[in-house]
Amino acid sequence: MSSPRLRSPKRAVPTSSVLTVYKPPAVDVETQRKMSHDSNGDSGVENDHVTEANGGVTKNIGDVIKENNDVITRDVSPALMPVVVGLTSQRKCVPYWYLYDTRGSELYEEVVTNSKTYTLWRKEYSLLKSHSDDIVSKTTTPVTLMELGSGASSKTRLVIEAMLRRHGTLTFVPVDVSKEHIEEVGQQLEQDYDGLTVEPFGGLYMEGVRHLSTRKGPKMLLFLGSSFSNICIHEQVDMMKEIRAQLSAKDRFVLGLDMDTDRESLLKAYGQQWVTFQRDNPIGRLNKDFDGDMDSAKFELVTDFIEKPADGDCPSYVMGYWRSLAAQRMTFRKLGLNLDFQSGEKFFFTDGPNWSCKWNLHQMRRLAEKSGFALEDYWTNKAEDYGMVCFAPVP
Ligand SMILES: C[S@@+](CC[C@H](N)C(=O)[O-])C[C@H]1O[C@@H](n2cnc3c(N)ncnc32)[C@H](O)[C@@H]1O
Repeated sequence: MSSPRLRSPKRAVPTSSVLTVYKPPAVDVETQRKMSHDSNGDSGVENDHVTEANGGVTKNIGDVIKENNDVITRDVSPALMPVVVGLTSQRKCVPYWYLYDTRGSELYEEVVTNSKTYTLWRKEYSLLKSHSDDIVSKTTTPVTLMELGSGASSKTRLVIEAMLRRHGTLTFVPVDVSKEHIEEVGQQLEQDYDGLTVEPFGGLYMEGVRHLSTRKGPKMLLFLGSSFSNICIHEQVDMMKEIRAQLSAKDRFVLGLDMDTDRESLLKAYGQQWVTFQRDNPIGRLNKDFDGDMDSAKFELVTDFIEKPADGDCPSYVMGYWRSLAAQRMTFRKLGLNLDFQSGEKFFFTDGPNWSCKWNLHQMRRLAEKSGFALEDYWTNKAEDYGMVCFAPVP
């Protein structure tokens, strides 16, 4: 629809620099269609203009260059290339993991443990307090305990304690993109528990799962905090299938999943208390990583609760994005990138339409069935608004 959005600010080209070529993962046509529909499904200005200059290729060496689907730039570490891709995409976004640098992880923990309206952490904590012994009994012999997105591992302590009660010793492999954070947490855990060895793995979820599959012996894999609910709804089953492919019949996969579908309480839970973690910290990180001048005060948080039929396979979900409060231009000097937002334009911090999915038992069972697992056990609280499931691989 409108004119080019990405132009090159005048600046010195770095003399010694590393060229990075990034091929974004192939997304199948059906997922692209769904994402585009989901992203544009409500009111507000749509993200349907193209962020390219000069017919798709910028002229200055050192700037972000988009050729077909590939993104080429200089002096950006490969790990940050998905962030550059997100910024320069039609659906402007940062990957969800980008929210979790060390400061982000601390901010997250502050909100979830102190908030009066976001009660998910407390509900999962009390479920684990009541059922950890039962949960760890799902694997009979000593196992390697692995946790995806372990963060502060504050609730995991209850599972670690139950494992140590049962087996005396334990190897715990926390997996998290926030590497320094989990290394610090790991040292503290080893100090706190005799018999515990912690082997932190800094990386993305599936890198961690592949790492675990190289280890001998049975494993218990944890995915707590309803973190699975942050995975793009169109990619959840594929991720589960990939995890299933790395597990053996004796392994177990335990997930904590939020079941609260009360619209009023959800809109309070996913409100302004998240702005520092969700908006100010990542925008500060963007400015630092790419020498930028993006102003977080010019974006507001927008949320909604999208209800899905209770007897369908797709869970309901809270959606969220930042809305640009004005037409604005920001410059990321390290990328040679001027980025324009229209007033009302959306900037996503989630990988899919969902910020956080809200499940029922039927949907959890269907998730297991569709990805090669059986729902072996299920624990819930009195209000039945939080659940933990144990998935067993179907041979
Ligand atoms: C919602 S928090 C949950 C933290 C903790 N498990 C809990 O229950 O409180 C998600 C955690 O996963 C990590 N994370 C997010 N996306 C990730 C990804 N794609 N790969 C690896 N870690 C990720 C974050 O750093 C963070 O520690």
